[in-house]
Order: sequence, then structure tokens, then C-alpha cells
Amino acid sequence: MLQSVKELLSGLEERLEEPTARGLARAVSRGLRDGLLGAGDRLPPIRTVAIELGLSPTTVSAAWALLARSGAISTDGRRGTTIATEPGFGSVRYRRALGRNSSFDLDLSTGVPDENLLPDLSRVLRSMTVTATPSSYLDDPVLPELLDVLRRDWPANAAHLTVVDGAMDALDLVCRSVLRLGDRVIVESPCFPPLLDLLEALRVDVVGVPVDDEGLRVEPLAAALAGPANGSTNGSRAGSTAATVAVFLQPRAQNPTGASLSAGRAAELAELIRGTNALIIEDDSAGAVAASDAISLGPLLADRAVHIRSFSKSHGPDLRLAAISAPPEVMHEITGRRQLGQGWSSRLLQRILLGLLTDPVSIREVAEAREEYARRRALLVGALADRGVTVNGRDGMNIWVPVADEPAAVLRLASQGIGVTAGAPFAVLPGQSGFVRVTAGLLADRHDQVADALAAAARAGGWPGVLR
Ligand SMILES: Cc1ncc(COP(=O)(O)O)c(C=O)c1O
Repeated sequence: MLQSVKELLSGLEERLEEPTARGLARAVSRGLRDGLLGAGDRLPPIRTVAIELGLSPTTVSAAWALLARSGAISTDGRRGTTIATEPGFGSVRYRRALGRNSSFDLDLSTGVPDENLLPDLSRVLRSMTVTATPSSYLDDPVLPELLDVLRRDWPANAAHLTVVDGAMDALDLVCRSVLRLGDRVIVESPCFPPLLDLLEALRVDVVGVPVDDEGLRVEPLAAALAGPANGSTNGSRAGSTAATVAVFLQPRAQNPTGASLSAGRAAELAELIRGTNALIIEDDSAGAVAASDAISLGPLLADRAVHIRSFSKSHGPDLRLAAISAPPEVMHEITGRRQLGQGWSSRLLQRILLGLLTDPVSIREVAEAREEYARRRALLVGALADRGVTVNGRDGMNIWVPVADEPAAVLRLASQGIGVTAGAPFAVLPGQSGFVRVTAGLLADRHDQVADALAAAARAGGWPGVLR
């Protein structure tokens, strides 16, 4: 904890690796990490810091702006500039969106795959032999045969491809490898809540861009890339012109809206992003159970895309495997970081995945699951349309249902034994409330009955007459 202004300034000087705004912001964030500074501590006036550290007041002021943007400090007229109170990082939105409530008769809140639609593991397990299973620290981190299979239908450049422990692990690895405090990133709004939690924990500046059925909307993306930022999660964006470091998108079966990138939209987005240095980070979490074909902006952007494909929804969440391709320098960072942790994803699990991806019966089971998810989605969306509730999106296991009043809709459905997720934790842009996410993929039958309940819930708590 802080002893004196002099001590603080010499502590910052020790941590200052470069005499720039970003360098000073990093010095403060290091000081926060190692206890030089703590929540509530007051920073000395800009002039004092500038004189003592041999920086210009503009540089110090820009560093404070970076820190304010990431939520690390706050300025209040009377108290001056102080270190912000820890916002209690963790999985705040994740828990709000996905916290379990097992008391529902019909739980459509989870976003998880239907266990009955996962391929049967027993055939593949029976065919595995001990000799085929590597057991050394020194073996390749990814089974070469699995790499070959993955490369057959990989939509991005697969020269640098590896396997990690699920899409969330992939996102965590990429974010920690490429993002730094105060960086500006663009996400889809609405967005997968755990990604927002992850970005918030890294204290990056998050800007939301709305999606329609074909993915990120072009004009709002152009505006966001040009700055000033808008729609950020921490509300301090006005005037931010920092370059965007990364654009996160889900190329198909977007969770929660069900949007899937069309080829035309992909070309329009690539055209915009081409003029920037932003990295594209694509999270294909539905993978083989998405109805649309795999797609990536990578080929249109000189392979500047990170592409992630999860096998959790298609082949089983407990395999906890995803594949990820990335430009060489990003892959180098990711694999280096991973070597300091688990090193590789169990090759035993990789071998099971390889079996599932090559066994004709398993391939057929996954294809049938894909068709069944599409059928369930179409039935519920159709039944809702018959009741005057229009649901957009076109793919995936979730539907994004417009409602007049989120809490009223969730409560009404819960009282009837039906679990759905309120839209709020998915929202990035202000004014995007008024939705619930329903995992239609878990609903094998009773579509009319559930649509009756959903349509009535959509109108609960105040009916404006029209649902978007
Ligand atoms: C958009 C999105 N990204 C990532 C994940 C996490 O995937 P995994 O289970 O592979 O970690 C999910 C899971 O629902 C998701 O919906």
C-alpha cells in the first residue's frame, strides 16, 4: 500500500519501461498488481508526475486517460484521480446468464447440446488400442493425423493449427496473448457473456457493434473502426480514438441471436477491416452442428484471422476440445503461453475426437444431430411466428426472443416450470434489452405448447403492441 507521494513516484519510475503514455499506464498497472498501489489510493497531480518522471504533462494525461478507459482509475472533482475499487472480476455475466437452476421441468436456459444428439463414444473407445496412445511429454502436442483431418475443411489458413481445451480456453489464450490493458476491441452486440467477462478482466476497452441475421452490421462497424468509440461496457469512451486491436465475431450460429455470416457480408466486413491493423478473432462454437457452412474472413484478409472451432456442441462438452488456427506470430505467443501451463490437450481425448471425426457412423450421427437442431429451431420459430412473435437469426441451438419486459417474461415462464435466460448479460450496447434466450435445440417436442407460453411471456409486464 502507498506510503508517500515520493515513494509512489519512485516506485512508478522503477516500473516505467518506456517514456510513453502506454508505458506509464503499464507501470501503474504493474504497481497495482504488486501492491505499490491499492484501491482508493490517490494519484499525485499530473504536473507533479510529469516533473518527477521527466515526462510531458500531455503524456501523463494520456496515460491517465488510458487507465480511466480501462476502469483502473477514476477522476472525481473533489478527490482528484484515484485507483478504482476492484470491480470484483470473475464470471459476473457468465453466472447471470448461465447459473444453474435445476428446478425447472423444462430448462431451456442452458445453451448446452442435447445429450441424446451427441455421437456415441463407445464404438470409438472400443476401437482404441493402448499402443496407439502416446504417453510422453515429448510427443507432438497435436496428433498429426488429427491435424490432417482438421485441415480438410478448415475455412481459414490452417498452416498454424493447434488443439486446445475448448473454445473458451482458446479465447482466453488468444486474449491473454494479444491484448494489453487499455486496448480497444470490437465485439458483437449482443455477445456471449463469458467473452465480455474475460475482456473486462483484462481491462480492455470494449466497443459493441450490432448484428443482424448476416452478422456484424457494416455501417456500425465502419463507425466503430473509425472511432470515437461508442457502446462500450464501461461507459467512459467518449472521445476515444485509439486504434482497434481486435474484432471478435462468431462466424455462424451466433450465440444468442442465431446469425450466420453470409459470403457477401464477409466480403463487406473484410473490406472495412482491411484498412486497419485489427486482428479478427472468430469463435465458431457450434462447429459441425451449425446448419451453415464454415466461413472465415481469413482468406479475404491476408490470413489475419484467428479461427476457433469447438467440438463441445457437436461431439461432446466433456471432450473439452477446440481447434485454433492463427497467424504465425499469434500462434507463437499462444503456444509459448501454453507451455507454461498445461502444455497440450490430452492426446487420449484427441484420439477419441479423431475417431469421431473419421468413423462413418459417428459422422452420420453428427449430421443427424445437425438436422435435428435445425428442425427443432424451425418448429419453435414457426410456432412463435404463428403467435405474432418474430424471431430473427437462422442457425444454431438458441433463439433470441423479443419480449416486452425481460424480468417479467423470465419470471412468468419460471412459474410455469420453463427456464429461459434474460437477455441483459448478453447486451453490450445500451438500449438493447428486451430479449430472452431460449435454447430451442433442447426442445424435441411440444413446440406449440412452449410457443404458447413464450408468446404470452413475451407480452408480460406491458405489451407495446409490436415486437421487434
Ligand atoms: C459463443 C461461444 N463461445 C464459446 C463457447 C464455449 O465453448 P467450449 O465449450 O468449447 O469452451 C460457447 C459455449 O456455449 C459459446 O456459445
